[in-house]
Amino acid sequence: MVVLRDDSEYVRHWVQWNPGNRLNTSGRGKISIGLRAKFFFNILDWRLKVNKVFCRHFAAFFSKEISQNCMRVLITGATGFIGSHLTEALHAKGHQIRCLVRRTSNLVWIKHLPIDYIYGDLFDHDVLKKAVDTIDCIYHLAGITKAKTKAEYFLGNHIATKNLLQAILASNSRLTRFVHVSSQAAVGPSLNGKAVDEETPFHPITTYGVSKMEAEKECLVVRDRIPITITRPPAVYGPRDKDVFAFFNAMNGGFQPMIGFNNKLVSLIHVKDLIGGIVLAGEHPKATGQTYFISSNRYYGWREVGEVTARVMGKKRVVRLRIPEFGVYTIAAFSELFGLLSSKPVLLNFEKARDIVQDAWTCDISKATRELGFREAFTLEEGIRNTVEWYRQQGWLK
Ligand SMILES: NC(=O)c1ccc[n+]([C@@H]2O[C@H](COP(=O)([O-])OP(=O)(O)OC[C@H]3O[C@@H](n4cnc5c(N)ncnc54)[C@H](OP(=O)(O)O)[C@@H]3O)[C@@H](O)[C@H]2O)c1
Repeated sequence: MVVLRDDSEYVRHWVQWNPGNRLNTSGRGKISIGLRAKFFFNILDWRLKVNKVFCRHFAAFFSKEISQNCMRVLITGATGFIGSHLTEALHAKGHQIRCLVRRTSNLVWIKHLPIDYIYGDLFDHDVLKKAVDTIDCIYHLAGITKAKTKAEYFLGNHIATKNLLQAILASNSRLTRFVHVSSQAAVGPSLNGKAVDEETPFHPITTYGVSKMEAEKECLVVRDRIPITITRPPAVYGPRDKDVFAFFNAMNGGFQPMIGFNNKLVSLIHVKDLIGGIVLAGEHPKATGQTYFISSNRYYGWREVGEVTARVMGKKRVVRLRIPEFGVYTIAAFSELFGLLSSKPVLLNFEKARDIVQDAWTCDISKATRELGFREAFTLEEGIRNTVEWYRQQGWLK
């Protein structure tokens, strides 16, 4: 918990909030000015031992400003790939963090942080009421991205979101923002070659997408009672990701699977850039009641992604393995068949096949850029380098 009681604590927290003494990127000048001013007046007071009342007064004033910017934040899905990065980022900004986790959740990425854990899941109404109580801002990332049955998707994405919103209506009237992390899958792939934007009608093509769409609709129903912002990332990559890792692993083995015979286009975002966008959605006054695609500015062809990855990995030769679209469906059929014998969801099924044979999964981020000032910091090459280095450090890639 971050409470500033004396000067030494203040300095300690200043370092903690600004690792490497870099200020956080998302327009938080207010905090940084407050911190700097309080630091200045405290040092002045300590060095000169004069004007005590004056200096204490100003230091206290800025202390108050800092604690006003430090919010009580609830994160769902904090143990996951994106959620763990968000938890670290919000902690670095000085917020008090509460996380809803399951008894079975693996805390490996967040256990080093001072977190108030609420144990339970999104289907326990009492737990949810306790979780949302006295919270200022909620980031809802918990969701099901892979499941064996359609019912699991609807429960984990649609019903879980509905439960959380009902708990807020029942037990928290002070909430300043509810950030719902949806997905481009809720809207669907590019339409007639055009990138989707916030005006594009829903046309999801998978059960996952439909369940995320239904979750968004639940948010829209309560939009006049809860200050909601919906964010829609496309495919996300970066340290800790296990899904796009399959692509990096294949590249490391010297081949790049390519679906179909055209150069399919995608929007892609590095997880740290996505976190920047999600935090903006949670803080920007204009974001209330709005929906934003948060993604890369550019669209990438898989050929380009492969070339950049090969360069970063130092691979001189990578074989492009073209799999025709009917081949993808054939593999999916066998995979589904074998999946019947397993308790885990298979990597490729018919729906996933339909997803990956699309010509383009691109989204337009003009609205987030214009209204929130969102801008990605990583180029594709920097993002891939950062990711590959992390996989290598962890021994995931040899
Ligand atoms: N990764 C992407 O490329 C991508 C793209 C677009 C949108 N999204 C969205 O972003 C969000 C996070 O995705 P991710 O890739 O970080 O997923 P992830 O790594 O699979 O993490 C999912 C998180 O949700 C939690 N969770 C699931 N069901 C829960 C329940 N019933 N009660 C409490 N917690 C529950 C999981 O907890 P446990 O640790 O207990 O399993 C985990 O912390 C999801 O909503 C997803 O739809 C992801």
